[in-house]
Amino acid sequence: MIVTTDELFKVAYGQFAVGAYNINNMEQALGLFEGCMRSQAPFIIQISRGARSYANPTMLEAIIRAAGDIYPEAIFAVHLDHGDEATAHEAIDSGFYSSVMIDASHEPFEQNVAITRRVVEHAHAKGISVEAELGMLGGVEEHIAVDEKHARLTDPIEARQFVEQTGCDSLAVAIGTSHGAYKFSGSQGLHFDRLAEIQRQLPGVPLVMHGSSSVPQEEVERINAAGGALKGAKGVDEDEFARAVPLGVTKVNIDTDGRLVWTRVHREYFRDEPEGFDFRKPGKIFVDAYAEFIAHKNEKLLSAGTLGLLRQALASGVR
Ligand code: G3H
Ligand code: 13P
Ligand code: ZN
Repeated sequence: MIVTTDELFKVAYGQFAVGAYNINNMEQALGLFEGCMRSQAPFIIQISRGARSYANPTMLEAIIRAAGDIYPEAIFAVHLDHGDEATAHEAIDSGFYSSVMIDASHEPFEQNVAITRRVVEHAHAKGISVEAELGMLGGVEEHIAVDEKHARLTDPIEARQFVEQTGCDSLAVAIGTSHGAYKFSGSQGLHFDRLAEIQRQLPGVPLVMHGSSSVPQEEVERINAAGGALKGAKGVDEDEFARAVPLGVTKVNIDTDGRLVWTRVHREYFRDEPEGFDFRKPGKIFVDAYAEFIAHKNEKLLSAGTLGLLRQALASGVR
């Protein structure tokens, strides 16, 4: 069942973080739904502009609706990840998305406010909520590369002004994470002091952590042992999510880890089966491995086992 992102956030705030997982194809969708059912967790499916141009928005919508029919117990929201203004308006008009992200964080503050404000007005008129971003994560997202020295942590006072001026419903904050498989070139971890200060300025406002893949070392080693060359890949310590939850982190974005699962499964399969060419065989292994990964991640996000709670809240009309 597709619900609004707001409904998920109302139940989750301070209790657990909702895993927001990117999908690009059928196999990811099947693994995601299966993993969330195994762990009894609600979730957010994210669609990036890259996914829309890879698989076609109509195809993605059909895949998600079909997965929802195959797993009727699943409770989830559908979200546009890192939208530019044009794509955000398009997604709002499509009637399929529960929420959109407008990412104008690379623009100066005033421009970011103006663009976000326009998207919020359109979205709210249609009952859709909006995630916006302030601050600069490192890494690569949607073709914009930000190196670590230009990454900028979110300023808490600016964050309050930004939310007041834009009316956005949730805020993506830069607190030390970065996109992709190469995070934290030094020993740096999450900036909890900064996160706590942001929450003090924005009590009750759901905060979003992008760039939250943990890049498991075992996964990287297996990929490299099967012919890969991922040197120095490193991610977020997944045991830190539980510390971020009481500080207002309600949505945690994970994409890279899923790509690593895919890469490991397919590299190992074709290494061990050099004569194989039936893609359904590694495809099936991937769906199961991805489901396992998702179920494990939902435990770390504290969302595992919360479906019953959510169902009750929805039945009593959480708004
Ligand atoms: O933050 C970006 C997401 O990982 C989406 O990546 O634009 O390559 O689909 P993508
Ligand atoms: P990762 O690259 O750490 O998976 O981050 C994904 C993300 O932030 C999607 O918006
Ligand atoms: Zn992101």
